[in-house]
Amino acid sequence: TYVITEPCVDVLDRSCIDECPVDCIYEGGRMLYIHPDECIDCGACEPVCPVEAIYDEDDVPDEYQAYTQANAEFFTELGSPGGAAEVGKVDRDVPPVTTLPKMAD
Ligand code: F3S
Ligand code: F3S
Repeated sequence: TYVITEPCVDVLDRSCIDECPVDCIYEGGRMLYIHPDECIDCGACEPVCPVEAIYDEDDVPDEYQAYTQANAEFFTELGSPGGAAEVGKVDRDVPPVTTLPKMAD
């Protein structure tokens, strides 16, 4: 799966959403999260993020390791909706996002 990491927090550029062929990038309160079971590993989202927040799970930098778990944990309540468009914005985040100071204007 691909993973969205800390540079997305408070930026939420959303360019990645337009690239995902399976609509598996969901919007939380302060960042977006990729559904680990719905992602088909196509890689289309990774190059379009202007802040380079998206990584293949095997390439997540050490300082962002917690985000692999965070992307999965975001879906413990949601389950596998099968498409982000219908779910819309979910005004909720998971650690470590919840503990971060405001990251951008
Ligand atoms: Fe975030 Fe980058 Fe997508 S900032 S919303 S991961 S394009
Ligand atoms: Fe979607 Fe492909 Fe990224 S399935 S989340 S655009 S790797």
